[in-house]
Amino acid sequence: MTHRRAAVIGCGFFSQNHLNAWNDLRERVSIVAVCDIDRAKAEAAAKRFGVPKAYTNVDEMLASESLDFVDIATTAPSHLALAGACAARGVPVIVQKPLAPDWTDARALVAALDRAGLPMMVHENFRFQAPLLRAAELVNSGAIGKVVWGRFSFRTGYDIYAGQPYLAEVERFSLLDVGIHVLDVARVFMGEAETVACRAQSVRPGIKGEDRATVLLGHAGGATSVCEISYASRPDPDPFPQMVMELDGDAGSLRIDPGYQIVWTDAAGTHRETVTPEPVSWGAEPWTVTQDSVRAIQRHWLDCLDSGAVPATSGHDNLKTFALVEAAYASAASGQTIRTTFVD
Ligand SMILES: NC(=O)c1ccc[n+]([C@@H]2O[C@H](COP(=O)([O-])OP(=O)(O)OC[C@H]3O[C@@H](n4cnc5c(N)ncnc54)[C@H](O)[C@@H]3O)[C@@H](O)[C@H]2O)c1
Repeated sequence: MTHRRAAVIGCGFFSQNHLNAWNDLRERVSIVAVCDIDRAKAEAAAKRFGVPKAYTNVDEMLASESLDFVDIATTAPSHLALAGACAARGVPVIVQKPLAPDWTDARALVAALDRAGLPMMVHENFRFQAPLLRAAELVNSGAIGKVVWGRFSFRTGYDIYAGQPYLAEVERFSLLDVGIHVLDVARVFMGEAETVACRAQSVRPGIKGEDRATVLLGHAGGATSVCEISYASRPDPDPFPQMVMELDGDAGSLRIDPGYQIVWTDAAGTHRETVTPEPVSWGAEPWTVTQDSVRAIQRHWLDCLDSGAVPATSGHDNLKTFALVEAAYASAASGQTIRTTFVD
């Protein structure tokens, strides 16, 4: 294992999870610098996490520091320029989802890292949620046979606007913010989609974009799935921020319920397992499942750097998920089913 020197760009709401998780992984990585255009946020993060240097300008940071990678945890409009600056200096990057506000910038970002011949990973952490990892293990071991149908659901009434007020202002909202996670998990369990049909709704007053979307995916080989995305629901229990799902295979069914419960039925009967996320000393409910998944994906990145393996959520992999988001918006706008013509 090589010890790495890294920097985090963006010291806002979600990067606190990144910084805490890097601290948990301190035997493998040292965060030597943080950067935020808001000086107070950069300095507060440096103080809180014992980081030696705080910068307000990415170019200044890259010129001054010797870094093995940079972790970009800013909002999407800044990702292309920041990742491009890192690529120009030969520094690998992790980029938070969504990669960019639109398809053109998302492809340009991945191409910039490709041209520089550098590894990159998208911080697409939902598939690293502990119950989803266990469910994937069960499905891959053949527990329910060949998967033919799926329902992937993230419906919540949690007040996300308190921590992330910018979400009320974006025109492309729930599909790009959380739908991208849901569609990514659908790809993990169902494989690639050939057709996408979507209806989007704006329910809560004062929200610029869609706060609800329902997506029907047609997968290669005839399998079908439904992705439910909503920030305008009041389910009880509210699983936020856990994702729930149901799968039918040709030899059984499996579901993940709120409370990290996996239930699956095969010819032998029904089995139940509770898959609790690994506790984080710095976390609190309801965030534990997310915080554990942040640490898990960061550990995956370090493992990949050590072994030279391509991360599961590489830029190229994530473009396939991004293409589904674009197709969902195109379908919602046109009322048509979109045949995906993904060109990487
Ligand atoms: N994976 C998840 O589960 C998850 C959850 C929440 C948010 N996110 C993602 O995390 C990212 C950040 O979201 P957030 O809610 O923390 O946003 P935020 O606005 O709270 O924080 C972003 C920070 O980046 C800084 N910043 C913006 N442009 C910059 C630049 N060019 N250089 C340096 N700093 C810059 C801002 O000043 C701000 O402090 C988003 O892409 C969001 O979608 C992911």
